Amino acid sequence: MTTQVPRAGETPQLPAAGSSTPGVALAGARFPGGPTLPDFDPMSLSRVVAQLANELFAAPIPAAGAPSPADGSALAAAPSGPSAPSAPLPPSSPASPAPTSANVPVASGVGDVDPRSPFDAPLDFSAITAPSDPFAGQGFDPALSLPLSLLDPRAPSPELPLPAPQGPPASPAVPTFDAFEISPTSDPSIRSLGNAPFDANVLKREFPILNEPVRGKRLVWLDNAATTQKPQTVIDRLSHFYEHENSNIHRAAHTLAARATDAYESARESVRRFLNAPSTREIVFVRGTTEGINLIAQSWGRRNVGPGDEIVISWLEHHANIVPWQMLCSEKGARLRVAPVDDRGQVILEEYEKLLGPKTKLVSFTQVSNALGTVNPLAEVIGMAKAHGVPVLVDGAQGAPHLGFDAPASGADFYAFSGHKLYGPTGIGVLWAKREHLEAMPPWQGGGDMIRSVGFDKTTFAPPPAKFEAGTPAIAQAIGLGAAVAWLQEIGVGAAIAHEREIVAYAEAALREVPGLRFVGTPRERSGAISFLLGDVHPHDVATIVDRHGVAVRAGHHCAQPVMKRYGIAATVRASFGVYSTREDVDALVGALLAAQEVFA
Ligand code: ALA
Repeated sequence: MTTQVPRAGETPQLPAAGSSTPGVALAGARFPGGPTLPDFDPMSLSRVVAQLANELFAAPIPAAGAPSPADGSALAAAPSGPSAPSAPLPPSSPASPAPTSANVPVASGVGDVDPRSPFDAPLDFSAITAPSDPFAGQGFDPALSLPLSLLDPRAPSPELPLPAPQGPPASPAVPTFDAFEISPTSDPSIRSLGNAPFDANVLKREFPILNEPVRGKRLVWLDNAATTQKPQTVIDRLSHFYEHENSNIHRAAHTLAARATDAYESARESVRRFLNAPSTREIVFVRGTTEGINLIAQSWGRRNVGPGDEIVISWLEHHANIVPWQMLCSEKGARLRVAPVDDRGQVILEEYEKLLGPKTKLVSFTQVSNALGTVNPLAEVIGMAKAHGVPVLVDGAQGAPHLGFDAPASGADFYAFSGHKLYGPTGIGVLWAKREHLEAMPPWQGGGDMIRSVGFDKTTFAPPPAKFEAGTPAIAQAIGLGAAVAWLQEIGVGAAIAHEREIVAYAEAALREVPGLRFVGTPRERSGAISFLLGDVHPHDVATIVDRHGVAVRAGHHCAQPVMKRYGIAATVRASFGVYSTREDVDALVGALLAAQEVFA
C-alpha cells in the first residue's frame, strides 16, 4: 500500500458530518490520496495512530546510498577485532621494569560485551529516508539537511552536505542560533571582590557547608577531586532562577522564557570566556565530563574511527576516558593503545610518542590525574600528536578547577569538564570543541531543540551547539555553572592556582612526616590531589577514622583501576584540595592520621 503524508501547507481532509468513516476526528482524517482507514473502535485513538504509523513506515522508500536490508545485516556484523589478551600488569615491586610501548595494553575493546548485544544491533533508518525534500522552497536550508540513513554509524561513505563553517544561514525566515549568541549583562548574584587579595580563610566563609559541624568538629573538606562545595553566590543564583526566571528555554514567547533563555545563554558566554574560546558555538552543555567524552566517542568517533585504527590514551586515565573508547573500539574493530607511566606516576613521553603513527585517529589524555594528582605535560603531548596530524581530546575534569584551560592556545581539539568539580552544580558540564569538528559531527541524540525541521522523510539539524543539546537541558544547573566560573574568574584563576600550589606543597611536606605514610605517585608537577597509604591499614579504615575528626577524604580506586593496578594496589587514601583549603585543614588531616595510627597500632 502506498502512503503519502500531507506536504507542508496541506490540510488533512476531515470527514463531513455523517461520514461513513466513524470514529474520532483523527481516526476519520484522510490525507489527500492517502489511505482510507478501516473502521475502528471510536475509543481506540492509540490504535489509529499506531495503524497510521505502521502504514507510513511500512512503505519502503528507496534512498540513494541508504543501506539495503542485506547491507544492513552485513554491516551489523561489526568487526570486533581479535580478542584481546588481558592487559599485562607490572608487578608492584619498584624493581619491575619500566613499562614500554611494547608491553602496554593493546585492547580491541570490551572483552565481555556480546558482539551482538543491543549496543551493536543494526540500525535501519532507510524506511524513514526519502529522496525528496518536503520543505523545499519553504525557507529551510537544504545544505543542512541530513538524510537520516547517514546517522547509521554503519552507513557507508558519510558524505554529508555540510554548511560552510562560517556561512550565514540560508534564510532569515529560519530562526538561527545567532539569536541566542548574546552578551550577558552583569549578573547581580555575583558579588564583587574588588581588589581584595586572595585569602582562603575569607573565601571559606562564602561556603555555608564549610560551617557545618561534622561529628562535633569543623568540617575539613579534602574530597574536592570527587566534588567541590558551592559558594553562596552559586546557591543564590540557583534560587534566583527558580524564584524569578524558571521556564523552559528557546521556545516560548513569554517573559519567563526570555529570562531563562537569556540566563542559560549568558552562562554559555561565561564558560566561553573561562575557556577563552572564540565563540559560544563551540560550547556544548553536557551532563559532565563523562558525557562530553561519550559524545565525542559516539559522534566524532563513529564517523572517524574504523577497523584497525588506533586511539591512544594513558595509564593515568579515569574510567570515563577509557571505557567510551573501549566501546568504540569494540564496535569498530579499532585498537586502544595505552601510554605507560613511570614509577612516579608520569607518562613516559618517549613511549607515548612511539604509539603515534598513521593508524592513530585520536589521542585522549587527562589534564590532571584524579587518582595521583599528576599534571600531564599537555604541550608536549599535544605537540607530538599534532606532528602526526592527530586530533587531541583533553579530559579537564580535574584540570579545569585547578589550572583552568585556554582552549585555542592549547592546540587541543576537544576539552570536557564538569561543573560540580568547579564549585558549580552537579548534572552539568561542558564540552568544548573546535567549530569545524562540531559542524562536521553528526548529532548523537535526537529530539527537541536540536533540529531545524522535522518530517517523516527528512530531518534537518540546528547548527552547533544546539545540534548536540537534544531535549530540555539542565537549565538551572547551567546557569549555576555560569555563576561558578564567573566567581572563579573574579577570584582570579591565577591566584587560585598559586594558592593551591602552595597548599599542595605544604601538604606533601606535612604528610611526609607522618610515620608509615607512603605516597602513591610522586610526580614532578602535581595539582589538586595527593594519594597515599598508611602502613598496611586499609584505605577505607583510614578514611573512616579521619572522618571521626571531621576530615573528609576519599578512599578507593578513584574510578581509575588501571593506575591502581600499575602500582599493584587496589586503593589509596586521597586528599584533594580546592580554593578554600588552608594549612589548618592540612594540619587537621595530619592530626587525624596520627590518631588513626594509634587506633591501628
Ligand atoms: N571522579 C571523581 C573522583 O575522582 C568521582 O573522585
